[in-house]
Amino acid sequence: MTIAFDRIGKTFAAEVQGIDLRKGIDKAMVGTLEMGLATHGVLVFRNQRIDDDAQQAFIEQFGPPVVTKLKEIASGHPHFYDISTVDSDGNPIPEDSARGMYLLANMLWHTDGSQNQPPIRVTALHARELPPQPPPTEYADMRSAWDDLPASRQRELDGLAVEHSIYWSREKMGMKMSDFSAETLNERKPVQHPLVRRHALTGRKSLYLASHASHVIGWPLEKGRALIEELTGHATQRKYVYVQEWRDSDLVMWDDTWTMHRSTPYSGSHPRRMRWCGVRELAPV
Ligand SMILES: [Fe+2]
Repeated sequence: MTIAFDRIGKTFAAEVQGIDLRKGIDKAMVGTLEMGLATHGVLVFRNQRIDDDAQQAFIEQFGPPVVTKLKEIASGHPHFYDISTVDSDGNPIPEDSARGMYLLANMLWHTDGSQNQPPIRVTALHARELPPQPPPTEYADMRSAWDDLPASRQRELDGLAVEHSIYWSREKMGMKMSDFSAETLNERKPVQHPLVRRHALTGRKSLYLASHASHVIGWPLEKGRALIEELTGHATQRKYVYVQEWRDSDLVMWDDTWTMHRSTPYSGSHPRRMRWCGVRELAPV
């Protein structure tokens, strides 16, 4: 069966036909999916009844898998995070726990791993267990948001560098620098990325924003923060947003270089269990 991409969002996002991830994918399929990611940004694979081994075999075809070191959302697997609303005993995770804070922070618009250098390039999230009415995940198209800016504005923005920091996104959730250990502060230093990126495969430009994006290098702090806030508001207008309504065993894969995403609130008692994995860029961005 040939692979096909059916557009499901207004400006981006597609459902992938013709792939059963239990059977694995070959090099030609990887190339097709890379082009699909570059073109559509978010790829939805329906009804993929895979286990950890199959998800791992899939993601590692796309680059070096992220080593998942954050103990707060550890899954027990070296390359997966456990994005679940319950602990291993099935009890709901309190919002004020460290794990709960990570889940809450996912409700801010972000790109995965922009606080790192090299950043994350591609992410894949698999729905292992869903509540009867699963909370959707929203994705924003930063390429269309860039395309729609006036040329004069594009010229002002192209070439700017932005500092990304885990501390900035966590500060928005009420955490303070003193909440982080000396080891974390030493390991997780702020990094810089361009505000405007050009895609390696399509050559198209996009904004590169995230909840971790703090300020513009060389600008007064508040001026840079105001710009990032303004552009985030622009890029997340509903016309640029695809809403993923989850179904059992969906695997959603996305290109972090030109999309943002956020989770939406959920407080039901039925567990929601998701498996997260990703791959990094091969070089600093
Ligand atoms: Fe995320």
